[in-house]
Amino acid sequence: ISLKPYNTFGIDVVANHFVSVNSIDDLKQVLSLKEYKNRLVLGGGSNLLLTKDFAGIVIHINLKGIEIVSQTEDFVYVKAQAGENWHNFVLWCIQNNFGGVENLSLIPGNVGTSPIQNIGAYGVELKDVFESCEAISVDNYQLKTFSNADCNFGYRNSIFKQEVKGKYVITSVVFKLSKQNHKLNINYGTIEAELESMQISTPTIQSISKAVIAIRESKLPNPKNIGNSGSFFKNPVISKSHFNTLALNFNNIPNYPVNENEIKVPAGWLIEQAGFKGKRFNNYGVHAKQALVLVNYNDAKGEDILNLSKLIQKTVYRIFNISIEAEVNII
Ligand code: EPU
Repeated sequence: ISLKPYNTFGIDVVANHFVSVNSIDDLKQVLSLKEYKNRLVLGGGSNLLLTKDFAGIVIHINLKGIEIVSQTEDFVYVKAQAGENWHNFVLWCIQNNFGGVENLSLIPGNVGTSPIQNIGAYGVELKDVFESCEAISVDNYQLKTFSNADCNFGYRNSIFKQEVKGKYVITSVVFKLSKQNHKLNINYGTIEAELESMQISTPTIQSISKAVIAIRESKLPNPKNIGNSGSFFKNPVISKSHFNTLALNFNNIPNYPVNENEIKVPAGWLIEQAGFKGKRFNNYGVHAKQALVLVNYNDAKGEDILNLSKLIQKTVYRIFNISIEAEVNII
């Protein structure tokens, strides 16, 4: 089966076996099939680059459902199944006036993969609303609950990318959302500006969501039209002394302090300085409006995009002495 419809990069590789699971029991059954040990668990397929055919089984997580599990006067706990589309879940929250995920509007992917890389945008990260998740062990097929602390969330990072990588399949996530007195995050520069241009002086979760959607649509390519996996690289964190040395030559480096000794630099800026922004190589390239995004214009090979990413890494390293790390999973 071709995996093209199952990855937002739109890479056309084939998998030997493919199964879409609609229940936990189905999932347990598939995991217990000894002859299919080489597995690729797939959610929305929005954070991976497929570089070759997959000799194994692809397990597409299609668990659906959103329900309120409990509430207090101020908060509601909502459980969403792993196969729910992330943005549909955000819209459901906004329609119900549940606050917390509005800044995370329009992020591609599914609920079940959101904790793995602690998705984040415009000043909010998943960890800010994540209460717990349930995941099934690929070894003993038991369900285990991971609390927020268990997940060890960091910037684009969690226990699911580290200690227990490949050991669990997340089946559902519980979110803690506000019912009133929403704590709005509008400090991220571009949101403030967008709200202003929308002539909104008293923002709500609804208007913030609209602003975020407008910003994303203006610079990020829609995977339905141009294949991509969002940011291809993570923003690197460098030491202050390294930053100070660079600043002697590049006095306009955008920077976000992480702590006393470290500074985060936008990889998009580094890639743009390295001359790659908007560069097109036949049927793939670097997005013209956001250099952090690699794109597949039409039937590109995953391997070509991987090679481009390596060339970008090498060039950025040569100019800035900074290693930028891929954010997408390379399969
Ligand atoms: N910049 C450039 N040139 C570019 C792109 C960016 O100079 O081509 C510089 C500009 O100075 C800009 C700054 O980088 O002000 C920040 O750009 P932007 O606000 O677009 O954010 P980002 O740091 O490039 C991160 C996330 C995005 C997320 C945005 C907004 C990562 C790897 N990416 O990008 O996440 O939407 O912030 O919060 O942290 C994703 O992970 O797929 C993703 C899209």
